[in-house]
Amino acid sequence: MDDEANLTYDPCKRVQDEAHVKNMDAYRKMHQLSLDDPEKFWSDIAKQFYFKSPTTGKFLEYNFNVNNGPIFIKWMEGAITNMCYNCLDRHVAEGRGDVIAFHWEGNDPLDCTKISYKQLLDEVCKFSNVLKSLGIQKGDRVAIYLPMVLELVVSMLACARLGIVHSIVFAGFSSESLASRILDAKAEVLITADGCYRGNKLVTLKSIADDAIRKCSQKEHRLKACITVKHVTAKGFSDDVTARPAIRPVEDFKYDWNPEVDKWYNELMNDVSTVCEPVWLDSEDNLFMLYTSGSTGTPKGVLHHVAGYMLYAATTHKYTFDYHPGEVYFCTADIGWITGHTYITYGPLLNGATSVMFEGTPMFPDCSRLWAIVDKYQVSKFYTAPTAIRALMKYGEEPVKRFKRTSLKVLGTVGEPINPEAWLWYHKVIGNSQCSIVDTFWQTETGGHVLTPLPGCTPMKPGAATFPFFGIEPALLTEDGKEVEGPGKGYLVFKRPWPGIMRTVYGDHARFEKTYFSKFPGYYVTGDGCTRDKDGYYWITGRIDDMVNVSGHLLSTAEVESALIKHPSVSEAAVVAKPHEVKGSCLYCFVTLKEKVEFTDEVATQLKQRVREDIGPIGTPDYVQYAPGLPKTRSGKIMRRVLRAVAQGQRDLIGDISTMADESVVGVLFQNRPAQKE
Ligand code: WT7
Repeated sequence: MDDEANLTYDPCKRVQDEAHVKNMDAYRKMHQLSLDDPEKFWSDIAKQFYFKSPTTGKFLEYNFNVNNGPIFIKWMEGAITNMCYNCLDRHVAEGRGDVIAFHWEGNDPLDCTKISYKQLLDEVCKFSNVLKSLGIQKGDRVAIYLPMVLELVVSMLACARLGIVHSIVFAGFSSESLASRILDAKAEVLITADGCYRGNKLVTLKSIADDAIRKCSQKEHRLKACITVKHVTAKGFSDDVTARPAIRPVEDFKYDWNPEVDKWYNELMNDVSTVCEPVWLDSEDNLFMLYTSGSTGTPKGVLHHVAGYMLYAATTHKYTFDYHPGEVYFCTADIGWITGHTYITYGPLLNGATSVMFEGTPMFPDCSRLWAIVDKYQVSKFYTAPTAIRALMKYGEEPVKRFKRTSLKVLGTVGEPINPEAWLWYHKVIGNSQCSIVDTFWQTETGGHVLTPLPGCTPMKPGAATFPFFGIEPALLTEDGKEVEGPGKGYLVFKRPWPGIMRTVYGDHARFEKTYFSKFPGYYVTGDGCTRDKDGYYWITGRIDDMVNVSGHLLSTAEVESALIKHPSVSEAAVVAKPHEVKGSCLYCFVTLKEKVEFTDEVATQLKQRVREDIGPIGTPDYVQYAPGLPKTRSGKIMRRVLRAVAQGQRDLIGDISTMADESVVGVLFQNRPAQKE
C-alpha cells in the first residue's frame, strides 16, 4: 500500500480525451490569466449567463487588509441579474425545458420520481407566489428545515427568485440548533416536513420544528408561517409533479397545529399561478446564509451573494467534475450543508445538468445502495465524503462488485483530508482504476472549490488537494506571518478574493473580520494547516484552531463544552478531537464535576445525550472522561495539546509542560482513561 500511496496517477485517456482542460499547460495558462486579468477571465464566463444589465462600476474591488479599513469584496458592481432565472428560465427559454433536472431517489428504493427544468420552473414560480402571498419579500429571511425532497430545491430557488435570503438548517440538527438559527436570522417563515425516514428510522421533523417554534416564542420571536410538506404522511399518487407514491405512509403522527401559523405546503400550492416575474437583484445583494460552527461556540451565518457566487458555483462545477451536458451527476451530500447548496442545487442547475438527488443513506437497504443508484441512472460524475468511503470499505469489495459502475468517470471527495488507503480504494475498487479522483478542498466560506485537481489534466497524488482553482492565489504562512517559499508547511491562506468568497457574517461584520482577516492582515485565513511538496502540490493537514471535523462536518469544541456545562453536575469541561477510523475525528470530552458528585456510567450517558440534544446526532461524543483537574497554564488556559495526548493514550504527544500550573494532573488523566479501541 505504501508504494501505491506514493505513486502519481495520471488521468485516464477516456477522461482526458473529452475534458474541458486536457493538459497541465492549458490549466496553467487559464490559472495565470485568472490572476493576471480577473476581469477578462470572469467576464468571459459571465457571458453565458443572463444579466439584465451589465457591470457599471468596477469589475472587482476589495480590501483584504484590516489595517487599511473595513474588509470588503465586490464583484461586478452595478450588474443586475437573478440566480433562479439563470438556473431555470434561461434553460427553458433556450429549449432545454424537457431536460431532466433531478432524478429523485427516495430512502426506499421503490420511491422515486423525476422533474424536468420546465416542471421545476413551474413549481418554483408557484411557490414564489405562495411566499409573496404571505407577505415575504426581498431581504427577508426564510428558514428551511427539510429532508432531501424536491420541495427543498423548490423552496430555495423560490427564495432566490424573490431575493429572499434562505437559511437552510440541516434536518439532522436538534430543535435547540434550529431555534438559535431562526432567532439569529430573525427568520419570518419556517419550511419543514411532517417527517422522513433515514433507513428504517422515522424522524419526526414537524415535532422537532414545533419545539423550536416554542423556544423562539419564549424569546418573543413569532413566525409569520410554518409551512409543512407532506412527505411521510402523503398517500397515493397525485398529478402534482413533486408528489410521489408513498411507499410506507405514516398515519399516526403527532404534531402541533396552530391554524394561524401552520400551513400545509400541498394546500398552499393548489390553484397558484405558474407565472412569477423574478425580482432583479444587484450583483452584491444577499443570496443565502448558511450557519457554520465558529471557534467561540455560537455558529455564524455565512452570507453569500448573487453574482459572484453564481459565477463561481457554475465554473467550479463545470471544471472540477468536467461536466458535459447530457451526463448524469450525483452528489451524495445533504443540501443542509454547503456542498449541497453549491453542488446539488446551484452549480449543476446553472450548467443545465441532470442530477440524482438522493434522500436516503449509503447503508439502506444495504451497503451497495450507492452503486445500485450509479448503475440505475448511469451516473458518470460522483461526489461523496471520505467518511462514507471509509464506512463502505469495511464491507469489502463484494457489495461494490454487485454493480458494474462502468459509467463512472470522475469521483470526487470533500469534507476532510482523505487518507491514502481510502483514496486508493475509491480509485481501484469503486473506479475500477478508470476514473479521475478529485479531492476538493473548500469551506462553507469559500462558496466553491478552492484547491482541487482537474480530472482531465492533473496528475493525482493520493491525499493531495493538488493545485489552486482559477482565481485562487494560495500561500503558506509561518506563525509570524512570513510566506513560505517552495516546499514547506504553514497556515493555508489566500492572497486575494475569488468570486465565490463570502462577503460577511450575518449581522456581525466585526466577527467576519476577526475570524478570517485579523491573524494575518492582507490574507484570508482558512484555519487549516497545509504542506506544499517539491512538485508544488498542496496537502491539507487539518484544522489548526479549536474546531473538530467529525465525518466532514465542523464542530467547535466551545460549542460542545457549553452543552456539557449545562449539566447540573459539571463544573468544567474541555473537548478535543481524537482520530477515528470512519469519522476522521470524534469528540473526546473531559469533565470536572462539582463537589461530592460521583462520576458514573449514568452521568457519562447523560452527558452524551445532552450534547446530542443540543447539537444533534452528529455531535454525539464518543468518549466522556472524568477529570478531577484539567491541565492548565499558570494563566489558566487549558492545554489542549495535553488533553489530545491523553485522548490518544500517547504520552509522547504531551510535549513541553513547563508552563503547566500543576503537572500532577497529567498522570491522573492517563489513569482515568475510559475503555476504548486504540
Ligand atoms: C473544512 C470546511 C466544503 C464542504 C464541506 C465542509 C475541511 C474540506 C477538505 C479536503 C481536507 C477538507 C477543512 C475545511 N475540508 N474539504 N478536500 N481535504 N480537508 O465544509 O463545514 O465549511 O468545513 O473542512 O478543514 O476548513 P465546512
